[in-house]
Amino acid sequence: MAGEGNLPDVWSVSDVERLAAARLAPQVRDYIAGGSGEEVTVAANRAALDRVAVVPRALVDVSACDTGCELFGARSSLPVAVAPMAYQKLIHPGGERAAARAAGSAGVPYVISTLSSEPIDAVAGAAGATWFQLYWLRDRRTVVDLLRRAEDAGCRAVVLTVDVPLLGRRLRDLRNGFALPPGIRPVNVDGDVGEHVPGDSVLARHTAAVFDPSLSWRDLDWLREHTSLPVVLKGVLDAEDADQAVDRGVDGIVVSNHGGRQLDGAVPAVTALPEVVAAVDGRCPVLLDSGVRTGADVLRALALGATAVLVGRPVLWGLGAGGERGVATVLDLLREELETALRLAGCPDLASARRLRTRG
Ligand code: FNR
Ligand code: LAC
Repeated sequence: MAGEGNLPDVWSVSDVERLAAARLAPQVRDYIAGGSGEEVTVAANRAALDRVAVVPRALVDVSACDTGCELFGARSSLPVAVAPMAYQKLIHPGGERAAARAAGSAGVPYVISTLSSEPIDAVAGAAGATWFQLYWLRDRRTVVDLLRRAEDAGCRAVVLTVDVPLLGRRLRDLRNGFALPPGIRPVNVDGDVGEHVPGDSVLARHTAAVFDPSLSWRDLDWLREHTSLPVVLKGVLDAEDADQAVDRGVDGIVVSNHGGRQLDGAVPAVTALPEVVAAVDGRCPVLLDSGVRTGADVLRALALGATAVLVGRPVLWGLGAGGERGVATVLDLLREELETALRLAGCPDLASARRLRTRG
């Protein structure tokens, strides 16, 4: 796309996906693209977004268009943040730091995964605003240590992922006998993930060993006692869960089915969004992820009441296609597409986008 510092001949996120696919090893490509089971939910996320038809407004002055917003106390240039994603050094030697730098330059928050392949402070140091994504680990001392390191590194929120009591059955990874190459490991969490085993995924085995599937509502109080940061729940799809979460003092909700990687057959995130927005009723920000690929998708999410979206795989495709420059290209594409979509829908800002009507 046009624009200095961007990848050449790239006009959409699908172009970036194609470039990345040509460069990445098949097992890494599959790890990124894959969902669980028959990948019904992966496809359903896209189909459901495509069904959301936005009703544009006419005769609004859109000579200026402001895409800025505030997310957990920091300005963001777009209603977009980079989703937490594990092991980014698998995709490019620049790893999390390269992706975080691109997010920082674009002025959008970057979420550091518990399974980051680089140290929390190094990633936070490369980025602008960061949030730390927490997996609930059996070893609670490690959880306390991660929280302290995230706070010391200046992270502005803790994103507790609640949809991974165990890893979904990722058939591609099982078939590939997915393993991490030497030198790539979850450096912020003790221990190694183990060796390649034919017909098994090291990620599934590692997750089963270290994640604590007993996570429940009572643990939220413990978490709030152990961090001063805002707590955001990622992976909520049910309106009653959202209501209960806000009642218990949660500071934000991410409506997500983990990009179709956990429960196959789960409701598309965008289908669940309006019910969650209604249940939360303005008491905290509601974010959406799972399937967002274009600025038009961001507009759809806003029209359905989302505060912002997280973008997952497109960022990894950018990283695979061209490291920091590739991620910058993806974020620039989303910015250009969102600005165009907002103006064409008669929205000079995000608040007016949230008042748009939808059909479908
Ligand atoms: C993820 N996701 C994820 N989520 C999380 O809370 N912690 C993590 O470590 C990871 N790791 C991870 C790795 C890879 C390769 C992918 C693709 C995804 C889920 C992620 O945060 C987000 O919910 C989805 O990726 C959103 O869907 P899209 O945008 O990829 O369709
Ligand atoms: C994934 C896990 C690690 O989706 O969250 O791959």
